[in-house]
Amino acid sequence: MTSPRTAIVTGGGRGIGAAVARGLTARGVAVTVFARTRAELDRVVAERTAALAVQGDVRREEDVGRLVAEHERALGPVDVLVNDAGILVRGLAEELSAAAFREVLDVNLTGAFLCARAVIPGMKSRGRGRIVNVTSISGTLGTAEASPYNASKWGLVGLTKCLAEELRPHGVVCVGVSPGSVDTEMLRRTPFAPEMTPDDVAKVVVFAALDAPFAVTGANLEVHG
Ligand SMILES: NC(=O)c1ccc[n+]([C@@H]2O[C@H](COP(=O)([O-])OP(=O)(O)OC[C@H]3O[C@@H](n4cnc5c(N)ncnc54)[C@H](OP(=O)(O)O)[C@@H]3O)[C@@H](O)[C@H]2O)c1
Repeated sequence: MTSPRTAIVTGGGRGIGAAVARGLTARGVAVTVFARTRAELDRVVAERTAALAVQGDVRREEDVGRLVAEHERALGPVDVLVNDAGILVRGLAEELSAAAFREVLDVNLTGAFLCARAVIPGMKSRGRGRIVNVTSISGTLGTAEASPYNASKWGLVGLTKCLAEELRPHGVVCVGVSPGSVDTEMLRRTPFAPEMTPDDVAKVVVFAALDAPFAVTGANLEVHG
């Protein structure tokens, strides 16, 4: 495909998403970062690792619509979407509220669906594009005290594979990148030790977004040993 010129990175304010924005920008891609915390978005733009910041919540359809509209107005058509935004709520299943369970699914799974849905028509009409979903090793196994998180990530792996089949005839790639334990704010709220840096994961996301052959579509690329 022609080299992608622009990308949206949800969750681009810190952690893995900020590293992905930095990696894509270093390759000449004009990046919009999207998250809720204004100060973190502003810092990413001030460091020149993204071209544009849009503040919003992946759970809100109107925010996602505004994200794509502002990106297109400032930078042009969306060539790459990286669905990185995610949250973790820990606790034994019997102790979790339904609201907490739903919140994790809303952000990690429905949020990715809403963002993908917003860019798919443009990608299909241009006959090219890439959607990279940051899944997790937790989307391929079970972990105690993480049922909503793991369920959301198993769902995200499934969404990735379904979108890949829907978009294959239209020249659009959809691929998952599945990290192990990454040294970020999210991991610090777990008992797990870091196994890798955000930049390690970002290298694989950038590969999936820019370099991987079309044949990778539907895969869930593991970034853990
Ligand atoms: N760290 C790990 O070990 C690990 C391993 C496997 C997979 N992952 C996945 O990697 C992704 C990034 O995680 P991370 O470790 O970098 O965590 P992080 O440092 O907590 O970053 C999460 C990012 O998502 C954004 N976000 C959260 N809720 C959002 C919402 N409702 N709308 C828009 N943005 C939202 C956050 O910004 P705001 O809070 O400002 O909105 C932040 O920018 C997540 O999908 C996570 O599940 C992480």
